[in-house]
Amino acid sequence: MASQGESGAAGVTLDEVVALCKRRGFVFPSSEIYGGIGSTYDYGHYGVLLRNNLKGEWWRAMLDHEEIVALDSAVIQHPRVWEASGHVGGFTDPLVDCRTCKLRFRADTLDDAQCGRKPSKHPGETPECDLTEARQFNLMFETNVGPVKDSASLAYLRPETAQGIFINFKNVLQFARRKPPFGIAQIGKSFRNEITTGNFVFRTREFEQMEMEYFVPPDEAPKWHEYWLEERRRWYLELGIRQDRLRLREHGAEELSHYSSATSDLEYLFPMGWSELEGIANRGDFDLRQHAEFSGEKLEFFDPEKGEAYVPHVIEPAAGVDRAMLAFIVDAYHTEEVEGRTRTVLRLHPRLAPVKVAVLPLVSKAGMPDRAREIYEELRRAVGAEYDEGGSIGRRYRRQDEIGTPWGITVDGQTMEDDTVTLRDRDTLEQERVPAEGLAARVAARLDEPWRAPAPV
Ligand code: GAP
Repeated sequence: MASQGESGAAGVTLDEVVALCKRRGFVFPSSEIYGGIGSTYDYGHYGVLLRNNLKGEWWRAMLDHEEIVALDSAVIQHPRVWEASGHVGGFTDPLVDCRTCKLRFRADTLDDAQCGRKPSKHPGETPECDLTEARQFNLMFETNVGPVKDSASLAYLRPETAQGIFINFKNVLQFARRKPPFGIAQIGKSFRNEITTGNFVFRTREFEQMEMEYFVPPDEAPKWHEYWLEERRRWYLELGIRQDRLRLREHGAEELSHYSSATSDLEYLFPMGWSELEGIANRGDFDLRQHAEFSGEKLEFFDPEKGEAYVPHVIEPAAGVDRAMLAFIVDAYHTEEVEGRTRTVLRLHPRLAPVKVAVLPLVSKAGMPDRAREIYEELRRAVGAEYDEGGSIGRRYRRQDEIGTPWGITVDGQTMEDDTVTLRDRDTLEQERVPAEGLAARVAARLDEPWRAPAPV
C-alpha cells in the first residue's frame, strides 16, 4: 500500500486531496479549535452540496425502480434488534493494547499499523513493545435511554442502517403493498467505534451509509445478486469514475460476514491502494429469520399463486457516502500546466459538481457587475450558480476549477454592447460566445448530456 504522501496509481496523494478539501471548504477536521477529535470531520458548504448531489443520484437510481420504496428509520432502536442481528455477540474486532505506548491496535492488521514510539516499525517489532493478548472489542457505541443509567436503559447507536429496514419489512409489505422482488432503500448515519480509523474520511467512527435491501424469492437470489453487482458498477461509471480504477472483488469464504452467503466488493483505486468502496451481499434469509425469532412476529410473504408463505432472501448493495465522495474527488483531481502555471481542477461529473456555473464580471465597473448579477439571479434558481467579482479573473477561475464548477460565464465589455457572454468549459478550457438570453436553458441542457471524464494527459 502507498503511504499518504505517495501518489500511487491513483495519480494524486491523499495529502493533496485533504489540502484541497480544507482549502476550498469541502471538509474540515471536527472540533479543530479544541485540538480536534481523531478521525471526525465536518462538511463545509461545498462538501454538503457535493454530498447532496451524490445522495440525490443514489436516490434517483434507486427510485427509478418502481419496486423500490424509501425509508428513514431511527438511529437508536430497541437493543434486541442488535442481539437478533448478531451485532451484540459478533460485531467485534480483535484488539491488542501496548502497555508501553498505551496505543491500541487491531490484532489482525498489525502489519499495517505503526508503533507509537518508532513509527518506522510495526507494533511488537521493537524490544520495548509490550503487547497484551488479543481480546474481542465490540464496535457498537453504547448509550442510555432515559434518566437512569443502568443495564436496563442500555441502547446502541446503529452500526448499519440495514437493520432499520429489516424491522420494517412487515410495515412496507402491508402499507406499500409490495411483493418480491421489491426493495427498501435508506440513507442515514451509522456509528462504529473503529479501532483503526484513518485515510481521511475513508474510515471514520461516524459516517453515512446508502443501503438498499432487495427482497426476492429464494431461488432468484443468485440472479438478483448478479444484477445488483452490475447496476452498482454502472452507477459509478455513469457518474464518471474511471473504469480502470474500479474493480469487483469476490470475498473468500473466510472473509464472509456471519450473515452472508456471497459478497462482492466494488473496490476503488484510492491513493492508499485498492480498497472497498461498496459491498454487495447476498444475505440469504438470515436477518428476517433472526428478527422473526427474536420478536415473535411472522416475517414472511404469502404467495397467493403458490398458496404458501416463504421467507424472502435479501440482496444488499451497501455504500458509504463519505467513501464515495472521497473516491469521486480522488478520481476528479487533476493538475496540468496551462500557460506556464499549474492548474488544479476537480473534473467532477457536472451532476455531482457543487456549483454548476460561475458568473464573473470581467471587471467590477462599467455596468458589468449589474448585468452579471442579473444573469446570476436567473441561473441560481434554475441550476445552482455562484457569483464572484473579487480579484483577478484568473484567480476567480482557479477557485472555480478547484471546486469543480463545470462552466464559467464572463460578462465583459462586449456584453455591454450586444448582450453576449463567454461560456468557458472547465475541462477543455474552450470559450464560446453565446447570447446571455437563454443561458439557464443552455446550461440545463448540458447537464442532461452524457459526460465522460477527459482522458488524463
Ligand atoms: N449493511 C452492510 C454493511 O454495513 P459494510 O461493508 O460494513 O456493510 C457498507 O459497510 C459500506 O459502508 C462500506 O462499503 C463503506 O463504504 C461504508 N463504511 C463502512 N464502515 C465505514 C467507516 N468506518 N467509515 C466510513 N465508511 C464506512
